[in-house]
Amino acid sequence: MIDEVYTVAKANRFIEKHKNRVQPQYREQYHFMAPLGWINDPNGFVYFRGEYHLFYQYYPYDSQWGPMHWGHAKSVDLLHWDHLPVALAPDQWYDKEGCFSGSAIEKDGKLYLMYTGHRIEKELVFQTQCIAVSEDGINFVKLESNPVIDDRLLKGEGIPHDFRDPKVIKHGETFFAIIATKTIDNRGKIVMFQSENLIDWQFYSVLLEGLDGQGIMWECPDLFHLDGKDVLIMSPIQIEKQQFQYYNISSTMACIGRVDWEKGVFRVETSKEIDFGLDFYAPQTLEDSKKQRIMIAWMQMWGRTIPPHELGHGWAGTMTLPRELHVKDGQLIQKPVSLIYGDIEYQYGFENIEVSNYMVIFKKVVHDNTYMHLVADLSESQSFTMEFAKNTKEAIICHYEVEGNLFSISREKVGHEIIGDEKPSLNKRTVEAPLVSNQLILEIFRDTSSLEFFINGVESMTLNFYEIEKGNDLSFNAVGKATIQSFEIGEVKA
Ligand code: FRU
Repeated sequence: MIDEVYTVAKANRFIEKHKNRVQPQYREQYHFMAPLGWINDPNGFVYFRGEYHLFYQYYPYDSQWGPMHWGHAKSVDLLHWDHLPVALAPDQWYDKEGCFSGSAIEKDGKLYLMYTGHRIEKELVFQTQCIAVSEDGINFVKLESNPVIDDRLLKGEGIPHDFRDPKVIKHGETFFAIIATKTIDNRGKIVMFQSENLIDWQFYSVLLEGLDGQGIMWECPDLFHLDGKDVLIMSPIQIEKQQFQYYNISSTMACIGRVDWEKGVFRVETSKEIDFGLDFYAPQTLEDSKKQRIMIAWMQMWGRTIPPHELGHGWAGTMTLPRELHVKDGQLIQKPVSLIYGDIEYQYGFENIEVSNYMVIFKKVVHDNTYMHLVADLSESQSFTMEFAKNTKEAIICHYEVEGNLFSISREKVGHEIIGDEKPSLNKRTVEAPLVSNQLILEIFRDTSSLEFFINGVESMTLNFYEIEKGNDLSFNAVGKATIQSFEIGEVKA
């Protein structure tokens, strides 16, 4: 051990001592959060011995990014999580500036984590891949032989300073590590390494290399087979905008196609942004015993102000709801895991509400953990607007423009201002989502400071907002005549 500053034991003691100091105001009710401090990417998301394990990039000591640890929690249903001791701390020469993102896999009954050791030497960053093993799924021991993959194995196929976020998968009897790196001229690149035992690795192939404009680095790759296709997901930085896609500087993308395993090459058939919101990054997936492919993502964004940090609340960052994935018509489709519906207590249901050129208002119906399901016939309207979390000054505004099939969400008129690296600041986004038999179908999961929208069964939009004054009202308006065929409101029980 070179650096005694950070250890797992020290982190756990700190959390125990300080966890009651977080300010509850914007804390979520039913989304995953750490007890305190900063979190980013989900890591090591895995189904192990009948339970779901979620690790995450973690700096418990402050509500901003710092030398990364791996936080850890487990769950039997993906919704109710038990916090476990911190799994990894940056306590070795090869990870002294951080245990960066990675993944988990089971072998011979043991749980293996592969993560990126991040170290800085003479102001130069070096990133290598390292393994930690656990017999009980809670206490992890880093291998003596770490790092198991370094720049010598990379053989000039990438940049050792940007070489991170390994996702380990098994294909046939062989393990493959899918790792992010970049080209010398700043294009994203995903490389693959191969191993029989998770310890000895060799370079296998360049899985995919980006073109100019497709991002200067691709972070957090994941690769899986689903519904007859291969899917490669990743988080590109500075990918160029395309119509309504990739407006956040840090984006996410799903490529759908086929892996040629002989050559180790991904043949892309279609690619698209995964979520059209403002706070969705670094998604990772697992497959469970029911063969469900589940994805979870960090529900925050790089390069933005984060009110709970700025206000000194002692925490920053949450995870999205776990979402079940499918591939349909060359697109990745997401829906919230079905068990969440068992946690919804329905409160109100309305049918056949006509909205036409005037505002229909519902008072005091939207709360911190409100779930809404709306089906509106727009065959006779040009546009439809819904505002909620509404008081005299603030509101979240959702709008559907029938021509062009455009759904948009804005947090511009609500809560603490959020400023980001995007110029001008980005607080509104739009997605193309065709009506289903003339119907707009919206599912909305609202938590204290977040919103997840599922739109017409094909798109999702995820964002945070931090109300200054609570707003519980909701209104509908339309140009032309819209008929709300059904509107249900419930509460998600934590
Ligand atoms: C993505 C990321 C990863 C890295 C980690 C560091 O959000 O930048 O590439 O491993 O966060 O915390």
